[in-house]
Amino acid sequence: MIPQKTVQEILETAKIEEVIQDYVNLRRRGVNMIGLCPFHNEKTPSFTVSPAKNIFKCFGCGKAGDPAKFIMEHEHLSYPDALRYLARKYRIEIEEVQLTPEAVAQQQAEESLYILNEFARQFYQDQLFETDMGKSVGLSYFKGRGFREDTIRKFGLGYAPNEQDAFVKKVTQTGYKLDFLKKLGLASQYDKDFFRNRVMFTIHNLSGKPIAFAGRIMEKDAKAPKYINSPETEIYIKNKNLYGAFHAKTAIRKADECILVEGYTDVISLHQAGIENVVASSGTSLTEGQIALIKRFTPNIKILYDGDAAGVKAALRGLDMVLEQDMNVRVVLIPDGDDPDSYLQKVGAAAFQEFIDKESKDFILFKTNLLLTETKGDPVKKAGLVRDIVDSISRVPDPFKRSFYVKECARVMELEEEVLVSETNKAVKQILQKRDFDKRKKQEVKVNIVPENDGEFPSEAPPESDDFPNIISPKPRTAGHEFQERDIARILVEAGGKLYDENENMTVAEFVLGNIEEVLEDFDNPDYLRIAREAMQLVLGKTPVTTQYFIGHHDQTISELAVDLLHSPWEYSPGWEMHEMYLRSQKKPEDNFNKDSVSALLQFKLRKVIRLCEKNQHQMKEVAKDDAAQLIRLLKVQMKLNEMRNELMKQLGMVVLK
Ligand code: UTP
Ligand code: MN
Repeated sequence: MIPQKTVQEILETAKIEEVIQDYVNLRRRGVNMIGLCPFHNEKTPSFTVSPAKNIFKCFGCGKAGDPAKFIMEHEHLSYPDALRYLARKYRIEIEEVQLTPEAVAQQQAEESLYILNEFARQFYQDQLFETDMGKSVGLSYFKGRGFREDTIRKFGLGYAPNEQDAFVKKVTQTGYKLDFLKKLGLASQYDKDFFRNRVMFTIHNLSGKPIAFAGRIMEKDAKAPKYINSPETEIYIKNKNLYGAFHAKTAIRKADECILVEGYTDVISLHQAGIENVVASSGTSLTEGQIALIKRFTPNIKILYDGDAAGVKAALRGLDMVLEQDMNVRVVLIPDGDDPDSYLQKVGAAAFQEFIDKESKDFILFKTNLLLTETKGDPVKKAGLVRDIVDSISRVPDPFKRSFYVKECARVMELEEEVLVSETNKAVKQILQKRDFDKRKKQEVKVNIVPENDGEFPSEAPPESDDFPNIISPKPRTAGHEFQERDIARILVEAGGKLYDENENMTVAEFVLGNIEEVLEDFDNPDYLRIAREAMQLVLGKTPVTTQYFIGHHDQTISELAVDLLHSPWEYSPGWEMHEMYLRSQKKPEDNFNKDSVSALLQFKLRKVIRLCEKNQHQMKEVAKDDAAQLIRLLKVQMKLNEMRNELMKQLGMVVLK
């Protein structure tokens, strides 16, 4: 571990322009410097570096941060490793803090596993390229499948010879111990090779280290399983790994979309054809861990299914979990019994790309259509279908997205919208009840957050779908409410553990979370939501919510974000002033996190209310002039919303003037 004072020294020494100029050509513009963003494709520079503030920000893709953040992003390093990089650059010596003996042993054991896997990868690669059998059997197999040599090397493909113990022997000669080999599943308990006479696929972790292997049989219609795979180990946790993620991550960020396929060869084929934002679930349905992994890079998934209907139907069930994560899911059926690999080889890269662009469908609508064709007008089956669809829709956290789906699905199924609305509301209620935490003593900010029926539907008819360009297409990163959410996340990271109220012995985190518990699902930004949720878990587990917890978080997304929150300059929300808000409360407080927390909460709630106001006003404009009943309903809603808004603003005023 790097001692805190060295961390400080590194952060104070590293100059943003010096660090970035190692990678990007910068030129002066006023007090700043600009260049072409290394994180997304652009022709005119929007990547800005501020030497004075020691930060960078790209106005094209939104990436921003301090020198450590830049190195983490650019070099795909963890926070500690980015600090080590900077320390080397500035010749700052790091005296790593002593770990406990157990931690050292653990680290060494893991290190051995990585070393052996790397050794194995090299062995299988050498067998493929350097031996006669490897070349004539393995390499020709891969070439026969259309894989180029650079692709074969990039993905660490190899060949396991048809011998009992060629690999075990090599390992023994080199002096490695066999117990690690068995643990990795590379040798059997009788000291024989596990992978024999198969072409090999290396499975990498996110930083590109080999953590496991898969071996494919080469003969057609063999009795043995087509693929055999390494077992789970400390370094290979199957349900958290996605094949190809290391090679795809940069492209996923750039495209703001992750393509999901089933097979190893699908990933390799697409990647070779220039479609690099692709990962494979390796034949199983998506796990929560895998979804979380994708979500670190993008909220948008496009799933390519080999198009046999039975398989697709089974797969659809697994996807409700993805909906719960508020991700945008689109699906594409690959035609004619092909899989993505074979279809791509058949039609070529351009036609393939065009196909998946054109044929991709929103998941819920796709599911509705698919199941509907199966009911063939049978009313009993149709009732079952409604339950199924309601179950999916109710998992979507965003109430506006839900109303969009209700409208669309009702149309497709030729149902009264109200039926679907009320069914969905019931299901949503059930979900919310399930989620209800044990009620803790909490201090309420005395205000109603959003209309009483929040969590269900806006009380009026769902808005026209074109009000919601975000529903199917990716959300812009800087969507409206992020600013307040960011504020809350920042307070949690920076001051969560500080005492909010000494008399009550309540921490800032307890106070803040106690007040946003019920609107947690209203967060627009998944990352800030994660910070809030993590903090909530700490509070529930009576663990202090410390800055260090977030900075040193094992999950890089969180640690990166924490760093970003601590280091990014104090910003104002665009358009914030328009609402005559109290900017004074947004000065960075010296140490008054109490005032800061209260106002952040109120502002968060206020933004939600203002959003509802705007939506409602928009609806009023759309209402037909002679539809008096509708107009009156909307007006009533508007009055209620205005009341709530005024109340919140009044409270904000009090907070500011205190
Ligand atoms: P597929 O049978 O679709 O194979 O299995 P594939 O990926 O298209 O492979 P090729 O093109 O025939 O060579 C999809 C995925 O399921 C897992 C593998 O991860 C495979 O890529 N699988 C399949 C196994 O783990 N074991 C098996 O026996 C079969
Ligand atoms: Mn295939």
